[in-house]
Amino acid sequence: MRMVDLIEKKRDGQSLSKEEIHFIIEGYVQGDIPDYQMAAWAMTVFFRGMSLEETVELTLAMAQSGDQLDLSALGRRFVDKHSTGGVGDKTTLLLGPMVAACGVPIAKMSGRGLGHTGGTIDKLSSVPGFRVELTQTEFLAQVKKIGLAVIAQTGNLVPADKKLYALRDVTATVNSIPLIASSVMSKKIAVGAQGIVLDVKYGSGAFMATVEEARALAKTMVDIGKALGRQTIAVLSNMNQPLGRAVGNSLEILEVADALQGKGPADLMEVSLELGAWMLVAGEVVPDVETGKVTLRQSLENGAAWKKFLAFITEQGGDAQAVIDRQLRVAPWNLPILAHESGYVQLFDAHKIGVLAMVLGAGRITKESLIDLGAGVILAKKAGEWVEAGEPLMQLYSSDKETLAEGLKLAKNTVSVGTEVPELPSLIEEVIL
Ligand code: URA
Repeated sequence: MRMVDLIEKKRDGQSLSKEEIHFIIEGYVQGDIPDYQMAAWAMTVFFRGMSLEETVELTLAMAQSGDQLDLSALGRRFVDKHSTGGVGDKTTLLLGPMVAACGVPIAKMSGRGLGHTGGTIDKLSSVPGFRVELTQTEFLAQVKKIGLAVIAQTGNLVPADKKLYALRDVTATVNSIPLIASSVMSKKIAVGAQGIVLDVKYGSGAFMATVEEARALAKTMVDIGKALGRQTIAVLSNMNQPLGRAVGNSLEILEVADALQGKGPADLMEVSLELGAWMLVAGEVVPDVETGKVTLRQSLENGAAWKKFLAFITEQGGDAQAVIDRQLRVAPWNLPILAHESGYVQLFDAHKIGVLAMVLGAGRITKESLIDLGAGVILAKKAGEWVEAGEPLMQLYSSDKETLAEGLKLAKNTVSVGTEVPELPSLIEEVIL
């Protein structure tokens, strides 16, 4: 087989066979196929698309390109969750302890943030002492002991995705449904998930700008899951404004701590309860999503979820007392952004707030950037709330005075205030099973 023939075949709109797809992925990971040919191929996929059969084979070939986890030692059904990425999206940290407290183990590998979207691993790194890297043995032992562990993705899990994603990032081929769907699903298949709950976000702060695009992506991922015998549930959720009030690493951990003690913002709770309830359904501990939500609420009310979170922090070497005492490092310089006029907050633009938090130091501008774990933004108001002239709309945090001044300029066009009560779309658009 020759790669040039396979590029030509896809360029001309034909389907690739199972053998051809495996040849491409294996050849690329081994270094036999150079980046320039892979880039050309990715571009043909971008324009020509892939059939479901091709996308399933691509997912499998990528999942099999490196190590695969064997979670059979857990002795029970294993459910994983994935979010396509958003601003202020701390749902994993909130639903992880809730779901684990309700009897479904969580063994999660998460990513660091890039660009305007945050990453769970960066958020956890803001807890003093917390170890984001565990050996596979430690990881499994912790899941067995307390039902919850979250670590950074290990070196050789789905190397094909790592390599291809980096290439797509610089060749304008990220935004292709078969490429995104196979990238996400290959990681879930490689960790051995039997149940997969996907949070597919749409809106200004998400990868997919429109609900139609998000629906098409969600459907493809659910179909891949079905074809590979994994129960897959996709929730379409709105990401036009940040989730919750905190955007930034330690700021978000403090918000999670509040939420686990019953003081969470309504939007964050709604999305977390929806996703968590589907995880309980997929974990076969409740018969339906409504019972799942009731069970999760009980875990909040009786303190079981909060206790689970503290046990998880402690078990992974983190200082749980610092979380209880709210002693996480928050950036020393802060500045309020005040409303010039009274009115209803129309919308905080999620993308612009994500960029603002990144500029303040909370995110990486390049893969190599160091982040300021204490930087970010706290929204004093959310869309639909009334603000008086002179009241704060948000508070900016940074460790650097000059950066704060830069943030001040950016913050000005992230939000608008008007006389009309804004019409807000529902947060959960649809669930695709
Ligand atoms: N998230 C992923 O994991 N992969 C993609 O291709 C896009 C978003």
